[in-house]
Parts: sequence; structure tokens; C-alpha cells
Amino acid sequence: MPLLYALLEREVVITRRKFLQRSTLLATTLGATKLGAVKSSLLNSSAHNQPGMAPALDVSTLAQFVDPLPIPEIVRPQGKRASPSDRKLIVPFYRIQAQSVVNKVHRDLPPTKFWSFGFTSPGPTFETRSGEPLLVEWVNALPNEHFLPIDHTIHGAESSKPPVRTVVHLHGAKTGPESDGYPEGWIVPGKSKLYYYPNQQDAAMLWYHDHALGINRLNVYAGLFGTFFIRDSVEDALNLPKGKYELPLLLYDRLFTRDGQLLYPVSPDPQSPWIPEVAGNAILVNGKLFPFLDVEPRRYRFRVLNASNSRFYHLSFSNGAAFHQIGTDQGLLPGPVPLTTLEIAPGERADLIVDFSDHRGMQLVLKNDAFVVMQFRVSSAKVADESALLAALRPVPRIPESQAVQTRLLTLDEYVNRAGNPVMMLLNASHWSMPVTEKPVLGSTEIWTLINPTNDSHPIHLHLVRFQILDRQSYVPWVFQTKRQLQFLGPAQPPEPNEAGWKDTVRADPHMVTRIIVPFTGFTGRYVWHCHILEHEDNEMMRPYEVIAAV
Ligand code: C2O
Ligand code: CU
Ligand code: CU
Repeated sequence: MPLLYALLEREVVITRRKFLQRSTLLATTLGATKLGAVKSSLLNSSAHNQPGMAPALDVSTLAQFVDPLPIPEIVRPQGKRASPSDRKLIVPFYRIQAQSVVNKVHRDLPPTKFWSFGFTSPGPTFETRSGEPLLVEWVNALPNEHFLPIDHTIHGAESSKPPVRTVVHLHGAKTGPESDGYPEGWIVPGKSKLYYYPNQQDAAMLWYHDHALGINRLNVYAGLFGTFFIRDSVEDALNLPKGKYELPLLLYDRLFTRDGQLLYPVSPDPQSPWIPEVAGNAILVNGKLFPFLDVEPRRYRFRVLNASNSRFYHLSFSNGAAFHQIGTDQGLLPGPVPLTTLEIAPGERADLIVDFSDHRGMQLVLKNDAFVVMQFRVSSAKVADESALLAALRPVPRIPESQAVQTRLLTLDEYVNRAGNPVMMLLNASHWSMPVTEKPVLGSTEIWTLINPTNDSHPIHLHLVRFQILDRQSYVPWVFQTKRQLQFLGPAQPPEPNEAGWKDTVRADPHMVTRIIVPFTGFTGRYVWHCHILEHEDNEMMRPYEVIAAV
């Protein structure tokens, strides 16, 4: 039987067994201070050495820069098939199998078990062009048991559900709802799904990953993700570095046991192992810990993806070297943005140009804050660099606010128990299974005003669409919570120059109102929007939304 608790002026239906076990739910978002403490304690690996958990490996004992940076292979189609929407159209057909594999993450560690969409995690890279559709048969060939700790009190992950479920979402893709990887559309081992990707969109770095309801964080942590590039003529005309001079850098943090196996941290409550964030002490790049890359003294293009469950990165070079960001989640920016530090939230992508010609014969270390990520060894050879970095990349016309036909106020909510521990996160105080409330009309533009009273930054992602960030403005959370009025504390800040392009994931910063403007184009049907901190998403910080036909 669901219980009802009054939460300030709101009522939230508490369906989770956890709430019954853990006594009264006390505070809402105002009491979320504990989250910050949890987060910083997780940074310290000794914090994981709690009863019931294997001790975490101290990665600072490992030799650095002994493994070359791996580059995920490009996947080849198995053949051609008729497109489901137009039988006369014959398109490439791929078959990708999710399976259990072992990979070496470091020279001095034994092989690690991962789940992968190929033989290595990250899985293989797709290469396609704008307007060239393709079909993928996603096969679940995983074992019948999960190897990471499922929390059966989480909605969608009850013990009545099969433990191993997967469904693939292509993040950033404009895809029909039947191929978008709806979180409830999971399949069990032995089954497969055929998805159609029209790729009617601008060049961008997309990424595919698991999206199974209630265990998404575990499946992605296990290794179920990879990248998907769409190319177009606009990009071709820019003469950017390509071939071996254009490389993906997929960053994600993990914890390992001392024998080199993945360790997913758990709460002290064995009935409810979910934790609000994961911060691993090992940062992998394309599957290796502390890799190195030999580079020539010339321009390189790095396609950076933050594939971490919860970690935000602040990337810079040890010598303070400057670089340029030329693109964001949904493709090229209007022009290159000079940076010395890149901030990148879970789910976000950054397209970078690094010119090593200024660093001939040097070794540059890429760092995340003070922590070493990887090393670039710049040769002293004389090389010719035919690539270019032009001042104008492509126009990104700003969408006028007047174009929006609807503005939605949407809150990001965290709930803590009496002990101050976070127990659940919601969007707009609504559970996943409550009726759909966001129903934009196909072809219309809306402003979504994301109101964040919590102490956490939440990277908010909408499926199907691309959007622009209007602004961020700090406000007084308690005034909104008691009177539902937005009382602002300062001027609205425009997006950072490196966010002022087309986005599909946006940082909603603590105690700020973040506004995005979103044209809903492409398809009608049921999609989702969610926080891309996967621990939040799994514990209800995800909602369905529906694009409806204009009448
Ligand atoms: Cu990258 Cu709904 O996800
Ligand atoms: Cu997505
Ligand atoms: Cu979140």
C-alpha cells in the first residue's frame, strides 16, 4: 500500500519499500547538504572499504603511461537490408552483441570482466553520414546473472524482474520512438531488437549506451556503451584534422578491487545498495588507465565524451597549454572557443582541437583537476600539417524567445531521509510511472525552465531533440518552494561560449534556474528526459514526455 507524506505543499506518493524501512522521510531538497559530503567521501578510496565491500584498489600505486591509448575499432556492416519505413531503400545492416568480455585496463593488473557491445569496452565506433540511414540489430547475449549489485527497491528493478535486461539508446539521435531505447523496452538474454536510425541530422558525436529501467547505472558501469559519428559536408569543407589525427577520448571513472575487477560501491544497507553518486579513483580513457599517446607536432581533433556515471571533469594540460573547442553535443559551434580548462558533465561531448606544434618534443599530461588522466608524447619530427582551424565553423542562429509557444517550470528534486541520506531524486516531484505531463506539439518550440534547489549540478538530457541554452540565473529556493515564485538573486548569465551551440544535455547548476529553448521536431511519440547522473536517473530522476501531433 502506498503511503502519502506531505512534503511542504506538495504530496508525493511514496511507493518504495525503502521508505517504509527507513522511517519518516523528513526533508526535501532543502536538506540535501549531505550529498556533497557523500560525494567527497567517495573520492577517497578508503571510504569504500566498508563491511560487505571488497577493498578498492589504490590506483596511485600503479605505474603511469605504460599502456598506449587504444582506439575503438570502426564497426563494419554485416550487409544491407530494406529500410522499414521505405522498402525500396536499401541500407547498411549491423548486428551488435552485448556480451561478457575480459579486457586489460592496465599492464600490471589482471584482466577485468566487462560487459561490452563487442570484444572490448567501450564498444566499436559507428561511422556514418548525415542522411544515410542504418539498421542495427542489438542482441542481448549477456549471461543470466548480473555481476553488479542490483537494488531491488528501485522502481523497475524489483526482484520479480529478470536481473539481466538491456535496451540501447543512441544519445543525441533523432530517431523514431520505436528505435529510441525506451527504458521499459528492455530485452532479456537470448533476445534482440532491430532499430532504425535515419541520421537526418547535422554532423555530431553521438553515443550509444544501455538504458534499462532501474539498472542503467550498473549496465553502463559494466561497460555497455560506445560512440557513433555522423559526418556531413559542412564539416568536410572545414578541413579539420582527420583519419589518424582525429581520435575519440571516452572518459569514465571506475573503482577496482585489488585483483582488478570492477567494484560498484554500495550503501551500508544490504537491502538497498543504491548510492546517490559514484566517484571512482581510476579514470579510464578508451578503456585504459593512465594511457599514453604518441603524437606529431601538429593539430589533432579530439572527440571527448564524458561517459562517467556521475563524475564531472575539469580537464587541462599540466603545462597550462591552450586548446580550442569547436563543437559541443550536437555538432559544431559557430566558431572555435579558446580554453585552458574544459568542464564536461556526464553525457556531454566536446569537440577539441589541440595544436601540438607548440609543444614539439615535449610530454603533456592531461589532468582532471589535480589527477593525472593520460599523457601525450609529442615527437620532435618536422611534419607538414595541411589541416585548418577556421574562425567561422558554421552558423548557429540563436532561437528568439518569442518563438516559444509554451514555458514549463520544472523542478529538480532530491529527497533525504531522517539521517540526511539521499533516498530518491525526482523531476518536477513526479515519479517515472505517473501520467505524462510534458506533451509538446510536433513542430513547436518551448522553453523549459529547470529549477534546481539542490546542492548538486544535474546534467539534464532530453531525447530526440537538440536545444539551445538561454541562460542561468541564481534564485532563492525557499521562496519558490513556499510561494512558487521565482525570486532572482542576480542577472541572468548567458551560456559559456563553449555551450553556445546546439546541445542535448545541459548542466542545471545548484540554486540556479537554467532555461533552455527546444524545437520539438522529427517524430511524435513517447520519449524520455532525465538527469544524466545515472544513479539519479535510475532512482526516479527520469520522466517520460510525449511529442503530440498538431491538430
Ligand atoms: Cu545518454 Cu537517456 O541518455
Ligand atoms: Cu539521449
Ligand atoms: Cu541529477
